[in-house]
Amino acid sequence: MLRVVHVVDHPLVQHKLTIMRSKETDCAKFRQLLKEISLLLCYEVTRDVQLEEVEIETPLTKTKAKLLEGKKLVFVPILRAGTGILEGMLELVPAARVGHIGLYRDPKTLQTVEYYFNLPHDVSDRDVIVVDPMLATGNSAIAAISRIKQKSPKSLKFVNLIACPEGIQNFHAVHPDVPIYTAAIDERLNEHGYILPGLGDAGDRIFGTK
Ligand code: URA
Repeated sequence: MLRVVHVVDHPLVQHKLTIMRSKETDCAKFRQLLKEISLLLCYEVTRDVQLEEVEIETPLTKTKAKLLEGKKLVFVPILRAGTGILEGMLELVPAARVGHIGLYRDPKTLQTVEYYFNLPHDVSDRDVIVVDPMLATGNSAIAAISRIKQKSPKSLKFVNLIACPEGIQNFHAVHPDVPIYTAAIDERLNEHGYILPGLGDAGDRIFGTK
């Protein structure tokens, strides 16, 4: 299926997101809520991972039961704000592997420049989930996914907290095969590339840098 967008609008997610949006919410609370929401987003994005049947013995009897099949999942945060989502996802899937991608926008050329890239060597056998809190212009998500596709992962998904119509449109124009999982689709981008109403700069709010 192409151009799939899953909006995870569970009441707990919406409640937590509203508190995160408020400018009154401090850095510690923001981080805690991001971790909690990420756990819930992780629950949704892993809904269709493959299972295999194994034989086990309970204290009472032998039985067949299910375990996750194949190699461990790979989470890839886009630095730096993506690491805020990583924490909650790892709490739910502690054995997941973690890759990293660092990108910045060259202020002169406005092109995305990669400054760090590190993935497990065998991603062609693994499902990869890329995470970043805000899908705004979509430029960094597009660049990150393009780079990871060069390593031929078994599958790719993109998880964010807040998306906007422009970001979704741009992202799926280049990567229609990569489903998006988000907690909200906001109104629009402003002239500075921020999502409205949004929650401000996710990195600054996670790390307290402003
Ligand atoms: N990045 C952010 O952190 N916030 C936005 O609103 C857009 C991009």
